[in-house]
Amino acid sequence: MTDQLIGQHPLLSLDGVDVEVAGKVVCDDVSLVIREGETHVLLGQNGSGKSSLLNAIMGTGPFEVSSGRIRFADTDITEATVTERARLGLGMAAQRPPRLPGVTVTKLAHAIGRDEQLQSVAKTMRLDRLVHRDVNVGFSGGETKRWEVMKLLLQQPRLCLFDEPESGVDLENVAVVGRAIRQLLDTPTADGRARSALIITHTGFILDHLDTAIGHMLVDGHLVETGDAHQIFERMRRQGCAA
Ligand SMILES: Nc1ncnc2c1ncn2[C@@H]1O[C@H](COP(=O)(O)OP(=O)(O)O)[C@@H](O)[C@H]1O
Ligand SMILES: [Mg+2]
Repeated sequence: MTDQLIGQHPLLSLDGVDVEVAGKVVCDDVSLVIREGETHVLLGQNGSGKSSLLNAIMGTGPFEVSSGRIRFADTDITEATVTERARLGLGMAAQRPPRLPGVTVTKLAHAIGRDEQLQSVAKTMRLDRLVHRDVNVGFSGGETKRWEVMKLLLQQPRLCLFDEPESGVDLENVAVVGRAIRQLLDTPTADGRARSALIITHTGFILDHLDTAIGHMLVDGHLVETGDAHQIFERMRRQGCAA
């Protein structure tokens, strides 16, 4: 009974959200609900507005919500800063993350109180050699992407946002990334709640690691379809719209 109720709780709600960047509306009237324990996948061609939407949810600039509301659990976060959103339990693995000269991986883990988890998480992501390096400074493309996933394994957000976590990752490590995401999503939060996720994928790789996922199709900033992620992706592939 309790499990059923937990599963039905809306965690993230977007209600008629427009996202603007550089004076242009790039997401138009997007509404969606992610409930506790659900994994959602965002599909769409390049330039359709997927990253803009994820950044608007996380609160990372220069993307702005010019209309509509975003709610997380019981809080309206439309105007919240990225720090406030992170504290509430949102975390994002970015598509093109920034370099952080002067901030080592070890320092960052310490800053978020995860010294004890650092070694094992780094091992999971095959990044043991990088823990004393400055974040993303001189990392290869694949290391940068794996570090983003590792950051979420450390942070353990309640809602995990992934922006193309497979892009630029070599074939051998794509499975490492897929298994790590699955492991994170299968682990309950410290207070025993099921974790939720919104994952952007261009190749659909993550679907091999998920039994069920809800898919959303974005076309020119419009959410045109919501349904079974595996089915939507298969159809996109048949129509030549996916990699
Ligand atoms: N920082 C930015 N400045 C201006 N335009 C941007 C910026 N970021 C994204 N855009 C534009 O927003 C649209 C959607 O881009 P994006 O969200 O990155 O798409 P996707 O992630 O689906 O490939 C594109 O037309 C892109 O050129
Ligand atoms: Mg993108």
